[in-house]
Amino acid sequence: MDVEETEPLLDLHPAPADLEAEALRGLSAEPKTLPCKLFYDEKGSELFESICEQPEYYLTRVETAILRDSLSEIAAVLGPRVQLIEPGSGAGTKTRLLLDALDDLVSYVPIDISREHLLGVAESLRRDYPGLQVQAVCADFQQTIPAPEPDRPARRRVVFFPGSTIGNFTADEARAFLERMAEVAGPGGGILLGFDRRKDPQALIAAYDDAAGVTAEFNRNLLQRLNLDVGTDFVLERFTHEARWNEAVQRIEMHLVSTTNQAVQLGEHTIAFAEGESILTECCHKYGPEGVAGLTDRFRWVQTWTDADERFGIQFLETV
Ligand code: TRP
Repeated sequence: MDVEETEPLLDLHPAPADLEAEALRGLSAEPKTLPCKLFYDEKGSELFESICEQPEYYLTRVETAILRDSLSEIAAVLGPRVQLIEPGSGAGTKTRLLLDALDDLVSYVPIDISREHLLGVAESLRRDYPGLQVQAVCADFQQTIPAPEPDRPARRRVVFFPGSTIGNFTADEARAFLERMAEVAGPGGGILLGFDRRKDPQALIAAYDDAAGVTAEFNRNLLQRLNLDVGTDFVLERFTHEARWNEAVQRIEMHLVSTTNQAVQLGEHTIAFAEGESILTECCHKYGPEGVAGLTDRFRWVQTWTDADERFGIQFLETV
């Protein structure tokens, strides 16, 4: 058997989530919250794929189109012999566009908290890109990740962070994340990331509350997940999905609003909900034309690509 095919993944043993403790912490807070990472169980991941296909959810389509249209320019800016590092990798369409376009790519480093997901990603990439070194790393990308040494020396390390995932962080969290990624990329490295632009709040709300109700189902699936994995007794019909625009901090907020006074059992704790009280489940921050370039001085802005309607941006920042 080919040695490359069996290259083991680097396992940094990310701590398994203590769902019950995290749920209790969030639901005891004022206002109530639940951690967004709970969204992505198997059902949630399927629903998220379906969100990306909804007509109102323009983000995935527009970002992919920008990437496609700017690919040769992006490849020229990044230059040859890159080690490409992707935290929370899906190895989907966007990643493959880059893998195809980059000149003499040295290796691809998918980082994910799910071992199983990572093994699947690595296997399909090794099949479709037989000459490419795939260096899978199992880690929580909130921990500091040493970039693995590739077989061939790389000219630079570049972090790829598409999907407007940076928007799911508050400004402070985004700054901390970027500073960690500056460490990962190291001197001469950079980050290529996608950010969603501010626009008419109605268009934003529609993107997070599609007519077919997929985002609503995705949001409520979080409660179902807790019922299954933690043994809570949420009645899903007693919570409605709501996407709100928070003007003060320029973000969409996903809420689950209690339709009645009710109590939910979480282990030995009882969580009381008043009618109209909500659980904040996700924040999606929207940026101006400068994107996240001003958040930290560990990166310097190099270039931003956008669509004709300036709905979304992809930017490349270099470590200083
Ligand atoms: N990063 C995506 C975004 O902010 C994730 C996302 C899309 C999402 N729709 C959602 C997260 C609904 C939670 C709920 O757009």
